[in-house]
Amino acid sequence: MNYRHAYHAGNFADVLKHVVLIALLDYLGRKPSPFFYLDTHAGRGWYPVDSAETQRGGEYRAGVLRLLGTDAVPLGPVSRYLELVRSLGVEGDKLVAIPGSPLLALAAMRDCDEASLCELESREVLALRRSIRDSRSHIHERDGYGALTALLPPKQKRGLVLIDPPYEAADEFEKLKAALLVGLQRWPTGIFAVWYPITQEDGCSRFLERMAGTGIRKQLVVELCIQRDDSPGGLNGAGMLLINPPWQIDEYLAPALPWLLRQLNADGRGRSRVSWHVPE
Ligand SMILES: C[S@@+](CC[C@H](N)C(=O)[O-])C[C@H]1O[C@@H](n2cnc3c(N)ncnc32)[C@H](O)[C@@H]1O
Repeated sequence: MNYRHAYHAGNFADVLKHVVLIALLDYLGRKPSPFFYLDTHAGRGWYPVDSAETQRGGEYRAGVLRLLGTDAVPLGPVSRYLELVRSLGVEGDKLVAIPGSPLLALAAMRDCDEASLCELESREVLALRRSIRDSRSHIHERDGYGALTALLPPKQKRGLVLIDPPYEAADEFEKLKAALLVGLQRWPTGIFAVWYPITQEDGCSRFLERMAGTGIRKQLVVELCIQRDDSPGGLNGAGMLLINPPWQIDEYLAPALPWLLRQLNADGRGRSRVSWHVPE
């Protein structure tokens, strides 16, 4: 596997994913009972900005860094995300590190909640163990798809699964869908959040069509494209498929998307949406 998230950390797609992730965890935290968080593809958790990989990729500059330099961020999901990025990764007024999903999630969770963080690459696991020492979390060096069988259902009744694969393999969407269906079978009331890329190849449309065909209700889609969907050659946009999302989270997220689009749109022909793919 060649994928190294450090090249992409903090880019627009990471921003979208983390804004949605924190919103989901904040909603879960509104009820007193403990919840469980499973991150199937956790990465290393912490991406120092001055590392060679992050500097070479440099994608954070048009993502999180641009947002940190923006005045008048509206109150809501983006300001909450930036608050956590500042508390974890900003020293003085300088962004020194980009927090990944495990660190952001733990910052949004309460003492009573628990997390399982899965990562397959030994190098990333080592870095994750160094960046996280938190009695609420368990780090597993393992295949994240298998974790949907092995770790679900959790003892807590409520919770969230984040599935954030690298999409290097040609059959990633098929593998993902199969694993997701198993996860949903084992934990039908869990919230599942799947990140997906929007590229000219359009694998995500086929994936979404197939998900609609499963008969599973309550599927919400949140998408941010910074270029036309069919621009050749790269990542034009990113989406999150949310299954069983908390009540009214669509209304909470909806105003944030056009705002993010205005800040991050690359060629002025991007788009955003928060819409029910399959309603209740
Ligand atoms: C997109 S990155 C994760 C980023 C992280 N979720 C975040 O938001 O900060 C995908 C990660 O999945 C890891 N990975 C690849 N295949 C995996 C698998 N089958 N199971 C678990 N982790 C895997 C990669 O090493 C990489 O670190």
